[in-house]
Amino acid sequence: MGTSQPTSPSAELRATGTLEIKDSRTAKNYSIQIVQGGVEGDTAARAMDLRPIKTSPDEFGLMTYDPAFMNTASCKSAITFIDGDKGILRYRGYPIEQLAENATFLEVAWLLRHGELPTQAEYDGWVKDITFHTYVHENIKTFLQGFRYDAHPMSMLCSAVAALSSFYPEAKNIQDQHHRNISIVRLLAKLPTLAAFCYRHVKGLPFIYPDNDLSYVENFLSMVARMSESKYGANPVFVKALEVLFILHADHEQNCSTNAVRAVGSSHVDPFSAVAAGVAALYGPLHGGANEQVLRMINEIGSPKNVDAFVESVKGGKGSRLMGFGHRVYKSYDPRAKIVKRLADEVFKQVGMDKDLEIALKLEEVALSDDYFVSRKLYPNVDFYTGLIYRSMAFPTDFFTVLFAVARTAGWLAQWEEMLNDKEQKIARPRQIYVGYGERPYKSQLTTRFPSAKKDAPRK
Ligand code: CMC
Repeated sequence: MGTSQPTSPSAELRATGTLEIKDSRTAKNYSIQIVQGGVEGDTAARAMDLRPIKTSPDEFGLMTYDPAFMNTASCKSAITFIDGDKGILRYRGYPIEQLAENATFLEVAWLLRHGELPTQAEYDGWVKDITFHTYVHENIKTFLQGFRYDAHPMSMLCSAVAALSSFYPEAKNIQDQHHRNISIVRLLAKLPTLAAFCYRHVKGLPFIYPDNDLSYVENFLSMVARMSESKYGANPVFVKALEVLFILHADHEQNCSTNAVRAVGSSHVDPFSAVAAGVAALYGPLHGGANEQVLRMINEIGSPKNVDAFVESVKGGKGSRLMGFGHRVYKSYDPRAKIVKRLADEVFKQVGMDKDLEIALKLEEVALSDDYFVSRKLYPNVDFYTGLIYRSMAFPTDFFTVLFAVARTAGWLAQWEEMLNDKEQKIARPRQIYVGYGERPYKSQLTTRFPSAKKDAPRK
C-alpha cells in the first residue's frame, strides 16, 4: 500500500537517473533523463528526448514505434492506479474492494472527478444537480423512435449522446468552468435516461420518464422496467448489484474508450461529442462489447460437456478467443472479476441458479488449469461474470455494454477534464512510419469519370 500523499495531474515528473545512449551510426553519446511520476508512478523516458538523435541536422530525428500503445504513457493521471501484476485497482488511492463494498456510484463519480470523497454537503448538492437534469429534450424521443426496431442499443446510445451536443451548443465553451460543470452533470444525469429509452424502443415499449424521487440506480431500473404501476419498486438485490457493477466499471485508466475520449476531446470539441467517441470505442467486442460476447459464446457452447472441445478449438485458433479472458494490463487476476464473482453468487441466490453459470464455471476451471492460458497469463476479466448477472436480471444480451457505458461515463468525464487541465497536453496527433510508395506520377486508369447508373443493370 502506498502513502496517502496526493499526486496531481500537473505534478512534475521527477528525474530519477539517466539512460546513456550511444548512436552506432554517428558514435555520438546521448543522456536521456529517466523520470518518475507520483508516489507509485512508473519510470519513463520522454519520447521527445530521442528527437535530437539524428545523423544529420536536416534529418527528422528518432521516434519511438509503439503500435497499440503497448509501452507508451500518453498522459500523467492522478485518477486510477492499476498494478496489473499484483491485481490492484484503486480510484484516487482508494482500493476498489472498499469502494464497491461501501460507496455509492455517484459518490465514486464525484471522487473520480474531484480527487477527494465528497463531504455530505457536496454529495447532497451533487445528487440534487444530477437528479434535476435527468430529463431529455422531447425531440430526443423522436430521434430515437427513428431507429429500426432491431437497432443495436449501443448504436442508438452512441448516436443519442452525440445528438445531445446539438441540444447544448453552449457546451463548446469547455474552458468556462460553469459550462464544463453543467455539461458533466447533464451527461451523468441523462445517460441512464438515454440508455433506458434505447431499451424501451427495442422492446417496443413506451418510454418511461425519470422518477426524481428515486436514487440513481433505482430510477434507471424504473425507466427500464416500469409498466402500469404508479411507483416502481426495484428488487433491492438488483439495486445493490447494479450499484456495485457501476462502481467497478466507473474508470479503468487509459483503456481504449478513455483514450478515445481523451484523443477526441484534445481537439477541444464539446464533451458530448467526446463521450460519444468513448461509447463507440466501448462497443467493440475486444473492449466493453466482450460481456455481450461472453454470453453468446456460452450459448454457442450449449452444454458443460462441450466445454473441453470448445477450449481446444480456441487453442487451435479455429474458433474465436475465449471471451471474458485476458487483459492488456492484468497479468495475475482482474480484481473486479473477484468482486463480480461474489456478486453473482448473491444475485443467483435471489433469482435461482442461472443455467449457463455451470458452463461458465466449467470454462473457468478448464482454462485455469490449461497451460495455454496459464502460460499466457489469461485469467477471467470483469466481463466474464457481469454478463451472467445482467442476464439473470433479465437484461437482453445486446444491452450489457450499454450498462457498462452508463457507468464508464463517470471515468470518461473525469479523464476528459484532467486532460483539459493538463498544461502538457495538446491535440493528440501520433506520428507514423510511412511504408508506402515514394513519389510517382499520376496516370489514370479510368475511361470515364462520371459513369451513369444503368437502370437495368442488376445490383450487386
Ligand atoms: N483467448 C485465447 N487466447 C488469447 C486470449 C483469449 N481471450 N487473449 C489473448 N490470447 C492469446 C493471444 O492469441 C496471444 O497468443 P500468442 O502469444 O500465441 O499469439 C496471447 O494470448 C497474447 O494476446 P494479445 O492479443 O497480444 O494480448 P492483448 O493484451 O493485446 O489483448 C485482450 C488483450 C483483452 C484484447 C485479449 O486478451 C482478448 O481479446 N480477450 C478477449 C476479449 C475480452 O474479454 N475483452 C475484455 C477485456 S476487459 C474489459 C475491458 O477492458 O473492456
